[in-house]
Amino acid sequence: TTVLVLNGPNLGRLGTREPDVYGSGTLDDLRVRLEAEASGLTIDLRQTDDEATLIGWLHEAVDTSSPVILNPAAFTHYSYALSDAAKLVTSAGLILVEVHLSNPHAREQFRHTSVISAVATGVIAGFGFDSYSLALSLVRSRLVR
Ligand code: DQA
Repeated sequence: TTVLVLNGPNLGRLGTREPDVYGSGTLDDLRVRLEAEASGLTIDLRQTDDEATLIGWLHEAVDTSSPVILNPAAFTHYSYALSDAAKLVTSAGLILVEVHLSNPHAREQFRHTSVISAVATGVIAGFGFDSYSLALSLVRSRLVR
């Protein structure tokens, strides 16, 4: 099984972007870490700043029956288009874990709203790269059940 690990806008800048908030690891570091934890699963980690591309990847998840770990970044807070696409994934019976490096609820008011959470299987936020690792172990346990 291939797990799509999809990352939204500005996450390509991890490592140098607000390291006090997001940590000093890069997306490549994250990929290496998740691959080390994959144990039999294939990790397909991608990042885009483009909403249409991200939506296309969610459609692809439906077409290929792939579980999704999604950090929608700022799209979390306002993209109804991405929300509808995420709903396609969970409506198809696939797991979609919304992840965040930071805890958006502990930050600015505009980050307190997620238009993704209501259509996600669940949410993990505030644990840096551990948020993704936790999501990966959830994906694994759901797959073997
Ligand atoms: C984020 C939180 C969002 O509010 C922010 O826009 C991001 C990253 C996180 O992983 O903590 O870009 O999704």
